[in-house]
Amino acid sequence: MNGSPTLPTGPGGSAPAPVAPRLAGPSPASVARPSEAGGPVGVGPVGVVGLFDVDELGAEGIAEVLSDAEGFEAVLARPIPTVPALRGRAVATAFFEPSTRTRLSFETAARRLSADVLTFAAQGSSLSKGESLADTVRTLRALGADLLVVRHQSAGVPYQVARWSGLPVVNGGDGAHAHPTQALLDCAVLTRHLGDLAGRRILIVGDVAHSRVARSLVSALVLLGADVVLVGPPTLLAPGLVAAYPDGRVRQSEDLDRELPDADAVYLLRLQHERMVTAGLLPELAEYVRLYRLDRRRASRLPAGVPVLHPGPMNRGVEIDPEVADSERSLVTEQVRMGVPVRMAVLWRLLRAPESRPAALAVDGIETGAGTELAPGAPGRSAIDPAVPSGSAAPPTGGGPGPGEAARVAAQDAESARGGPRRRGGATGGRA
Ligand code: CP
Repeated sequence: MNGSPTLPTGPGGSAPAPVAPRLAGPSPASVARPSEAGGPVGVGPVGVVGLFDVDELGAEGIAEVLSDAEGFEAVLARPIPTVPALRGRAVATAFFEPSTRTRLSFETAARRLSADVLTFAAQGSSLSKGESLADTVRTLRALGADLLVVRHQSAGVPYQVARWSGLPVVNGGDGAHAHPTQALLDCAVLTRHLGDLAGRRILIVGDVAHSRVARSLVSALVLLGADVVLVGPPTLLAPGLVAAYPDGRVRQSEDLDRELPDADAVYLLRLQHERMVTAGLLPELAEYVRLYRLDRRRASRLPAGVPVLHPGPMNRGVEIDPEVADSERSLVTEQVRMGVPVRMAVLWRLLRAPESRPAALAVDGIETGAGTELAPGAPGRSAIDPAVPSGSAAPPTGGGPGPGEAARVAAQDAESARGGPRRRGGATGGRA
């Protein structure tokens, strides 16, 4: 994990309270991420491929994904905003918890890359007839999925899904643990508005204790050199998260009004009542609103141009006043919009030819369902072959993609549309 600390994953900095899986299969505790098992991320007993949290990427990997996302933004601005980069591949969204933005933007991203999309939503599925989580993901594989995007209310489930399915998995949010693509898109938006994030002070305000968004975002911001202030009532802060960064890059505060004048950006969080298993964490909603809602009066304490972000869904009138949510400071819509190119970049990196896949997104273990042993961290080697079709694009020379590789996809697509030959080394290969 490139030197980043092991992060606590639950309220108050403790490990996530293991929520008993509703379905058959190992408990989340048995699929704890490798770092929690004592080893560095990327080397552990769990043979998995995918993106499980943002710290796996390191600062360099984050920068590469954001650079590729910029290239895909250019694709999305075209009259026909689609490239054939993942034609013949299938992305399944396996969501066991509600979602609007994450699921729709992953599905849009997959379609913009010409992949097929399989949508699984727990509600209305055969889970209600007693089918297990394991059998559900095996079913998605049997139906042709090449990659699973997984959201689940229990921390750690994406790792287990990767083991059961033998497919690459992208964590679309697991319990209070992690939401890596949200952090990536947030960093894309913040970087666009603030430039280099090194030395910038970002306030993350609200229910930090139950927020997977906060955990992944803190990790990403620290990797990019920012300073983070976690702001909220003491019962909703996460002292363990602060302690995980002994260099002082992350601190906490209960006084939003005092922190606002020195902020470079304010990131608001929703109160996650559904994860508040301990009663009395928030005795008075009115008190919370009085002290922490970002309304017009509070926003006026911010220096001019300081942006306000929120991952959504917003509870207008609770953590954010509608006037602020709809003001010029608000980047909420831009965050949603950036979800598509950022997720295109992640899908593309995971599903293009394995020999050209960068290690940061490719290898996270040594034990594989196929019995293949990997050198931990071996660049370009995959623990699990995600059914890459023969005739895939040759790897670009020099290893992983450089910045602008995604834009090259667009150029190749244009060439393809003109009937010209595909260049070797591109990302447009796939089943024709
Ligand atoms: N930000 C986010 O994860 O939103 P959804 O729950 O709508 O996916």
